[in-house]
Amino acid sequence: MEVSDLKLLLIGGSASDVLALKVARELGMPVSKLQIKKFPDGEKYVRILDDVKGNDVVVIQSMYRIPDEHLFEYFLLVKALKDLGTKRVIGVIPYFAYARQDKRFNPGEAISFQTVNRLIENVGTDELFTIDTHLHRIDDISKVFKIPAHNLSAVPLLTQYVKQNFTLNKSLVIAPDEEAEQWAKISSEILNTEYDVLEKIRLGPDKVEIKTRLRSVRDRDIVIVDDIISTGGTMVETVKILRHYGAGKIIIMCSHPLLVGDSLARILDAGAEAVIGSDTVPSPVGFVSVAPVIAEALRKVL
Ligand code: R5P
Repeated sequence: MEVSDLKLLLIGGSASDVLALKVARELGMPVSKLQIKKFPDGEKYVRILDDVKGNDVVVIQSMYRIPDEHLFEYFLLVKALKDLGTKRVIGVIPYFAYARQDKRFNPGEAISFQTVNRLIENVGTDELFTIDTHLHRIDDISKVFKIPAHNLSAVPLLTQYVKQNFTLNKSLVIAPDEEAEQWAKISSEILNTEYDVLEKIRLGPDKVEIKTRLRSVRDRDIVIVDDIISTGGTMVETVKILRHYGAGKIIIMCSHPLLVGDSLARILDAGAEAVIGSDTVPSPVGFVSVAPVIAEALRKVL
């Protein structure tokens, strides 16, 4: 059955309106019309302009830079869709914020990941897709949701991009920390090379210390892969240490280039040749679109 034969609508929240258009193009369907505005006092107004009754509706909304605002808009959209008689709401949250606070590291802290997850379920999401969510202590996002939840990955497409656009000599894939090993493994298989995992010690929100582990990087071109670049601290320190040990060209890939402040400039200044990101969040390095990944996943559940 073609997607166009299904009673399916696609909505892009204001955080992901462009990405929603790209996904719609992949699926050969239009994006539904919304009215979203802010009142002078800062409150958000959301209106769904299409008839959604009896349809399955996909809502795409990332959570970057102003995550609380994007999340709240998602809640308004999903609840409105449910009130209007939508059959099934499928949430697509390409960058899922709050995942790093998945436990109480210090007494009294909120476990934000849990709270956000419960709110997403309780507002009426029937099924959820995310991309390369930061899952530190669990291997599968479905373990923390009561609804069907799937974590897709931008890493295969990012790696294909690097393979097609850069000439790499004696390449080695590097994960800056243990959590990134899963992505380094995927990339190394695509690049048909080895990978290594560094050791990262976080000294503060924007300060990390990186140590090398196994292989020599001397004269090897390096592909670093991670899920998020936020302040750039991890990448700056990783690039510096790789340079120190004589690495060749350094290409960085990341799924979610949040690139806070001057992080991109600092990473390039540290000696990286290029930063390649996906478009889960808008950025100057979003060379690889995740639209085909999302579209393929949606085709399987619709
Ligand atoms: C955390 O372990 C993540 O995988 C990233 O390495 C981290 O979020 C990057 O943050 P920053 O760019 O601020 O170092």
